[in-house]
Amino acid sequence: KTRTPLVMANWKQHGSEAALTDWLTSVSAIDLPEICRVLCVPLPYLAKLRQQRAELQSQVQAGAQLVSAFRGGAYTGEVSAAMLSEFQVAYSLIGHSERRQWFDETASARRGQLSALWQAGITPVLCVGETALEHQQGQTCEVLMRQLAEVLDGQATAGPLVLAYEPVFAIGSGKPLSAQSAQQMHQQLRLMLKRWYSAADCQRIRILYGGSVNNQNAGEYLRQDDIDGVLVGSGSLQAGAFNALCHAV
Ligand code: G3H
Repeated sequence: KTRTPLVMANWKQHGSEAALTDWLTSVSAIDLPEICRVLCVPLPYLAKLRQQRAELQSQVQAGAQLVSAFRGGAYTGEVSAAMLSEFQVAYSLIGHSERRQWFDETASARRGQLSALWQAGITPVLCVGETALEHQQGQTCEVLMRQLAEVLDGQATAGPLVLAYEPVFAIGSGKPLSAQSAQQMHQQLRLMLKRWYSAADCQRIRILYGGSVNNQNAGEYLRQDDIDGVLVGSGSLQAGAFNALCHAV
């Protein structure tokens, strides 16, 4: 594969400043230039992350879990893409199923978030994935196409992108989709991207698998042709387990 593997740790609403210090010290001590590692922390930890990355000369890049669709203004509680970029955020998740499920994020919000990230030079990691019911009813491809289209249609340009395929029932359940089934969906997703990207760009875009990935199964995903990395929640919280996972990749 020519695509650099991308391993993203998503802490969700976990962690503390002290935990961040310990985690980053431990993870940064391991030299793994052949993969790209990203840590998505809760927003208040971005300053500490920036400071520590510099002190440790860390290879770990900074990621955000959310971003405002608005550039700025009277939007209490929102954080703009430009603000994230002040903290050297290189990637930001958008459309994570937990945001869709618990915070009613709309397609129009996701479209705005995507263009805001592009404008700020941050790579969006667009999360897509079907529910258990949609999966059982054989609607996966239809759902994925709709989730891509509602964000990518109508954008003025097609900027840098990472996709994360997370079947909702595999998230936090300890029941990951098999690597072979995930590969089939990733192949489909790469074909779907042709509606917005050139054939060469489709080959460059990294598609991550997410949902109950751990240090035992991570390697199997990365061995598949169209799986270019993993998005890891609970398996990323302990530095030791995360390091083992990165070694398995
Ligand atoms: O962002 C991460 C995914 O939602 C996967 O979470 O690894 O805890 O299943 P998980």
